[in-house]
Amino acid sequence: MSTTTDATYRNLLTERRGAVTVLTVHRPDVLNALNRETLGELERCARAFRDDPGQGALIVTGSGEKSFVSGADIQELAVLDPRGAEAISRLGQRVFDLLEQAGKPVIAAVNGYAFGGGCELALACHLRLASDNAVMGLPEVGLGIIPGYGGTQRLPRLIGKGRALELILTGRRVKADEAERMGLVNRVVPRAELLGEAEKLAQAILENGPLAVSAALEAVHRGLPLGLDDGQRLESGLFGLLAASQDMHEGMKAFLEKRPARFERR
Ligand code: COA
Repeated sequence: MSTTTDATYRNLLTERRGAVTVLTVHRPDVLNALNRETLGELERCARAFRDDPGQGALIVTGSGEKSFVSGADIQELAVLDPRGAEAISRLGQRVFDLLEQAGKPVIAAVNGYAFGGGCELALACHLRLASDNAVMGLPEVGLGIIPGYGGTQRLPRLIGKGRALELILTGRRVKADEAERMGLVNRVVPRAELLGEAEKLAQAILENGPLAVSAALEAVHRGLPLGLDDGQRLESGLFGLLAASQDMHEGMKAFLEKRPARFERR
């Protein structure tokens, strides 16, 4: 399996493990806090992932033993005026939307602190695995602000309005086991196994038809804000489109021939 490291970012490390890309936020001096430059690099990296057919899945994690991403960079936030604050919020939202709408699976491997923008980054990923030392939360109100990178919108959609409001209004930080119980993460794994488990999860998804995976992501993402009728119409439309695909032809033929399917990534 080929592994390459990309040297074009200052605050990100990227590593290719076959069709899986591991993206590590790397600002160790500030526990991987997201400054504007890092958001810009994340935007470039998300676009490169989306546009490269060779990259099938993305794992997002943080550098070091202690922190996934400690939040937005408070040094930068502290000096923003209203116009600058709104602009950085829009930037963070745009970057996280890009990840969520890449059309391919994005998995957060939450390896420690995930506060504020770090928690929001994890929320924008499609699936979240957490290490047993992870702690998550949206502590913004304690800083006199609110979550600005999609947190007020994605958290209630993920765990329900009541539980989300409790976390957002109190700023309470939850450990991995509680995060799992409330549905904030899919699963907790021992720290040493986190990346391996994330990669296994990515590989399990990559065994399936790539167009089907993409359509499933789209059906859930675009369908969620719709009513049941409109959502089901969206589902049938995508279901119909897949019937024209080589993926469906191969997947069903392979089943009938009692062999594993061989899907092409384009
Ligand atoms: N922005 C900027 N700098 C940050 C940061 C952030 N979000 N989080 C941590 N840092 C910096 C600290 O200021 C410190 O810098 P220093 O060494 O120059 O003093 C360094 O990272 C290490 O952090 P420290 O607080 O000493 O580590 P800790 O292990 O005692 O605590 C945290 C870790 C994550 C609990 C604590 O740093 C924290 O609460 N950070 C802010 C979390 C937050 O509110 N995020 C939401 C922002 S909107």
